[in-house]
Amino acid sequence: MYEKKLFITGATGYIGGEILHQILQSFPTFEVTALVRSVEKGELIEKRTERKVKTVIGSLDSLDLIRKETELSDVVINTASNNHLASLEVIKSVLSKKTSETLFIQISGTGVITDSMDPEKYTPDKVYDDVKDIEEINSLDDSQPHRQADKLTLSIEETNPQFVKTAIVSPPTIFGISNGYDRKYSIQVPLLAIETVKVGYSFTVFKGDTRWSHVHIYDVGSLYVSIIKKFIEKEDFRSGHFGYYFTNDGTDFTWKEITTRVVEALYSRKLIKSKEIRELSPKEVDEIFHLPPLFWGANARTKAEAGRLLGWIPVKSTDSDFLSAIDTSIEYLEKHGLLGPGNQ
Ligand SMILES: NC(=O)c1ccc[n+]([C@@H]2O[C@H](COP(=O)([O-])OP(=O)(O)OC[C@H]3O[C@@H](n4cnc5c(N)ncnc54)[C@H](OP(=O)(O)O)[C@@H]3O)[C@@H](O)[C@H]2O)c1
Repeated sequence: MYEKKLFITGATGYIGGEILHQILQSFPTFEVTALVRSVEKGELIEKRTERKVKTVIGSLDSLDLIRKETELSDVVINTASNNHLASLEVIKSVLSKKTSETLFIQISGTGVITDSMDPEKYTPDKVYDDVKDIEEINSLDDSQPHRQADKLTLSIEETNPQFVKTAIVSPPTIFGISNGYDRKYSIQVPLLAIETVKVGYSFTVFKGDTRWSHVHIYDVGSLYVSIIKKFIEKEDFRSGHFGYYFTNDGTDFTWKEITTRVVEALYSRKLIKSKEIRELSPKEVDEIFHLPPLFWGANARTKAEAGRLLGWIPVKSTDSDFLSAIDTSIEYLEKHGLLGPGNQ
């Protein structure tokens, strides 16, 4: 007899894979269903989880499927997108009518608190605390990245507070290799390394003095486990309008410091011929590197207190973990043939 039914999206992804891996370890009696986008990905997930996970094929646009799986599940986890409003509307409509206790956890990201890419308008000292600054976080401007999805998620629990709990997990720069099943590397640092090798030199947006907080992928997964434990043990935890969880630890390095480390690691592996880092405008980053400059050109600094109130303790996100993971990520990318002209 299964204890709970859990439905997860994004299970082949970097974040979703790590979460799924930790859920299978921590909750072996759960019946888990994963949304995948193809028969091949379904077979991959089922095989690599030793058939502990059932898959259903569709996308976030398969609204009837999302509706059905949300109706059937006690725990719903969306890691496939922090922007897809149509699927969130369907999840909201199902959850508003539920008559059994259900937890929904939506992925966000600290892009939502980024400041301007104009150095004249930077707010480098601003750090958002997910407990003390919750009202400010819940009133961010609608134009901020993935704010619309956050807002929609925040409106769900109040439609059915007797049966529904929601949480938003909003990670900063995630680093480290995921224990997941398909894509195992992150976005910001790996993309910087991949494109630096392609172009032959690296960049900072202007002087590179902006900062994002950071977290190891393992500690993101363990936060999900902490939230789910509170839910199944029927203990109080911050949810709904208060259920906004940042996930960082350690020092917020500048992108200049991080880029310097990336370049040194690439140079020592003979993947680039010089350690040149050019100061570029956001437009130049877009045109030359084909990368979204916001990831390296704005500040997004957080203090993850809400998770600590649950008893969550990050264990792999220290400064030395972060810096050494830059080298291990580059080693991983090289080993898997992802560093070189034309690769991604
Ligand atoms: N990595 C970070 O540092 C970070 C930090 C904060 C927030 N985030 C956000 O977290 C989310 C997940 O990030 P990630 O790094 O795990 O990305 P990822 O590795 O690219 O994984 C995305 C996952 O979602 C699936 N997916 C994408 N679009 C879908 C759709 N329309 N329908 C169904 N499935 C879909 C992908 O399936 P396929 O295998 O079929 O492609 C994959 O399983 C993104 O919204 C990202 O912006 C990431």
